[in-house]
Amino acid sequence: MRILLGVSGGVAAYKAVLLLRLLREQGHAVRVVPTESALRFVGAPTFEALSGEKVSTEVFDDVPQVAHVALGQGADLVIVAPATADLLARAAAGRADDLLTSTLLTVSCPVVMAPAMHTEMWQHAATVANVATLRSRGVHVIEPASGRLTGKDTGPGRLPEPEDIARVALEVAAGAASAEARDLAGLRVVVSAGGTREPIDPVRFIGNRSSGRQGIALARAAKDRGADVTLVAANVTEPLDGLPGVVRVGSTAELRDAVRAAAAAADVVVMTAAVADFRPASAPTSKIKKVPGQGPAPIELVENPDILAELARERLRPGQLVVGFAAETGDAAGDVLHHGRAKARRKGADLLVINPVGPGLGFGTDTNEVTIVDARGETVARAEGSKREVADAVWDAVLKASPGAEPTTD
Ligand code: C5P
Repeated sequence: MRILLGVSGGVAAYKAVLLLRLLREQGHAVRVVPTESALRFVGAPTFEALSGEKVSTEVFDDVPQVAHVALGQGADLVIVAPATADLLARAAAGRADDLLTSTLLTVSCPVVMAPAMHTEMWQHAATVANVATLRSRGVHVIEPASGRLTGKDTGPGRLPEPEDIARVALEVAAGAASAEARDLAGLRVVVSAGGTREPIDPVRFIGNRSSGRQGIALARAAKDRGADVTLVAANVTEPLDGLPGVVRVGSTAELRDAVRAAAAAADVVVMTAAVADFRPASAPTSKIKKVPGQGPAPIELVENPDILAELARERLRPGQLVVGFAAETGDAAGDVLHHGRAKARRKGADLLVINPVGPGLGFGTDTNEVTIVDARGETVARAEGSKREVADAVWDAVLKASPGAEPTTD
């Protein structure tokens, strides 16, 4: 992707250097356009060395090239980090008083701004109004982080970490690209996300570490690509803004009811949720007490229904495509793929997305690495990258696998 990185003049400009390096490492071509004051914090040679491209701040620097138009037309994504109060004000007013603001007036690609400033400046009515104006025009303004600011101050206004800015910006770009495609238009899809909690008593539960991020990314990607989405979210704390059709659930029994209700009218069901295989046989309505001198009472477990296997067997709607996820670890009996392929054959889902899990892999991370297999365990696709990129790869595989997944007409 061709990324234009605008940098305005604040102490956080040093983080733009890290963001630049990160984006380059991910294989993107990055052209840095700093403001004059940004160069008082970080020198042009640093940006030029890391981007491999010339850095200029003024439209007069490269007149024959008409740089502001060429840069704007040539970019797939613009990130402004840090965006100072002054830069937000100039952009909101439509000023064209340097190369960065002039370029912002010529771009048609997604624009993401990551503001950084003191809390008082961020909360000032003028900045609030400028941010609202930019957002109303489609600019994605990231909320600043809270924490240590320059000097002794703390509060909202801190530039988010480069990894977070990169993730959000690339998600915004992917969202814009797939919104253009709209290749899932007319499809009704159900996605489950998160992890179930099986009550032990009114205050305790058996749960798991699933954050729900991969399922949410699937729901967002499907929505951007035009699908009608129901997201069944089990104990998800991640933001679900902009997603209509969210059903919140807690236990496996609740998840099963919600998924089956939505699946009755769905073309595709994707079971991303980490569902507990077992639940306590009974959950008393009052809290289990610790009795001094007595050891812990054993918890008897019973097996939960396998919702995915049921859906694959019953096909609640004719022609419905059923997709499962398998978070796997290798062991003495075989590697991740070996276990995943066996699971695909056992469960009978049309597609199974196999991902290795473990420390730093899969659960709660921003990236994922998957192999998608069919019901016979044959590999149909591999994908690696942000959870959004993996989500798009899953929907691509769904489209390829499903002559039956034609848009619903009833
Ligand atoms: O067997 P395992 O739990 O690894 O299978 C994972 C897949 O099966 C996921 O798609 C998950 O949502 C689904 N599953 C289910 N019901 C269960 C257990 C898992 O639908 N009781």
